[in-house]
Amino acid sequence: MKIEDVRSTAKAQRIAAHSHVKGLGLSANGTAAQMGGGLVGHEQAREAAGVVVELIKCKKMAGRALLITGGMGSGKTALALAIAQELGTKVPFCPMVGSEVYSSEVKKTEVLMEHFRRAIGLRIKENKEVFEGEVIELTPEETENPLGGYGKTISKVVIGLKTVRGTKQLKLDPTIYESLQKERVSVGDVIYIEANSGAVKRVGRSDVYATEFDLEAEEYVPLPKGDVHKKKEVVQDVTLHDLDVANARPQGGRDIMSMLNQMGKPTKTEITEKLRAEINKIVSGYIDQGVAELVPGVLFIDEVHLLDIECFAYLNRALESNLAPIVIFATNRGMTEVRGTDMRAPHGIPVDLLDRCMVIRTGPYTMEEIAVIIQIRAKVEGVVLKDNSVVTALADVAARTSLRYATQLLTPASILSGVKGQDHLTAEDVKEADSLFYDAKASARLLMESPSKYIS
Ligand SMILES: Nc1ncnc2c1ncn2[C@@H]1O[C@H](COP(=O)(O)OP(=O)(O)OP(=O)(O)O)[C@@H](O)[C@H]1O
Ligand SMILES: [Mg+2]
Repeated sequence: MKIEDVRSTAKAQRIAAHSHVKGLGLSANGTAAQMGGGLVGHEQAREAAGVVVELIKCKKMAGRALLITGGMGSGKTALALAIAQELGTKVPFCPMVGSEVYSSEVKKTEVLMEHFRRAIGLRIKENKEVFEGEVIELTPEETENPLGGYGKTISKVVIGLKTVRGTKQLKLDPTIYESLQKERVSVGDVIYIEANSGAVKRVGRSDVYATEFDLEAEEYVPLPKGDVHKKKEVVQDVTLHDLDVANARPQGGRDIMSMLNQMGKPTKTEITEKLRAEINKIVSGYIDQGVAELVPGVLFIDEVHLLDIECFAYLNRALESNLAPIVIFATNRGMTEVRGTDMRAPHGIPVDLLDRCMVIRTGPYTMEEIAVIIQIRAKVEGVVLKDNSVVTALADVAARTSLRYATQLLTPASILSGVKGQDHLTAEDVKEADSLFYDAKASARLLMESPSKYIS
């Protein structure tokens, strides 16, 4: 029998167009090196984006808009995603495409409003009395069903919790046993139980068990410090949209905790303007009291020229409300018609909205920059480029067609080279792959040359 090694516990990630983008790649003083965070070139645009990130972090940017313009494939979407990476996971980032507003069921402005509220976070801090520790014992005690029959019911649960300080045995109500089962708590897990509500939260598995399996999807946490019974600060990050959805069918009271408790219960009711106003009022109240903190996030609208005049009018107003996120637009259009009108405007955006935007441009790349981007992409896609000639061949293709086309050729070309039994890509393979596919310009030229062959 052959015994095989478990190769790796790292998850294989799907490779997407922007998986190499890890951030803006700025130094501590905010200057951009030629290459950093997976981005190449565009130093000025990256530095400007860095300033925006700073403004967002110190909350001075709310209600403003940023517009990223530039040609096709010049890295606008990549730059916006880099901003998202820089902001981290605690700041909400809600991406959408202009065309998403068109639906036969929901109003355009309703879609925009929903995305606006998805981009505004709320951090709620609470001091809770909890029992926290590693589970060392979990025994449900059964009794005869008092209603007769053969079934047994759980009368109480005995649970032992251990921390660095010591251990404690608790006798719990049977309803808490249900929550324990729901969270799939077993011996060796670190959990906390809220003292007043009995809610159970599984934090992770105690790291004593970290070498239990070779391959798993567990989060290991250290043994909690302090006593088992203590006060603990619990931080929850939610967005206004989460609260809207959770309270679309009001059931509980109108305090922040019952609003939070509505979350996770599926309801499908329309979110009305009135409900939103009510939630805004409660949220503002809690912000004033210092219970909650507002975290304005980012709404990223790609291909913004697809929005129409009604959406733009709405955006003008929404940007000025006091609960507004930072809005980032991106477009590759030049002078064009504003959708829904016959008015021409730069980037297809009405001038009054344009006036509220700070604009960042992403220009074309130099040959050297193209070569570096191709090398980065090759590494991400696992394609081996051994010598310089193949990089030059790809860069030539990119200069003749587009950067995107050249990077998209990488994998087909590596399949061709694999068929030939090579372990790395050569300029020959690039040429062969290039001859198999048409880039946008070549395809358009072909159409122009033989229009009679196509229906038009
Ligand atoms: N400066 C850069 N550094 C590294 N990779 C880049 C850079 N700019 C663009 N790319 C990569 O090139 C590809 C095309 O860029 P991107 O999709 O951002 O273009 P875009 O400006 O959004 O184009 P479009 O207008 O067509 O939407 C992506 O895979 C992107 O990650
Ligand atoms: Mg794009």
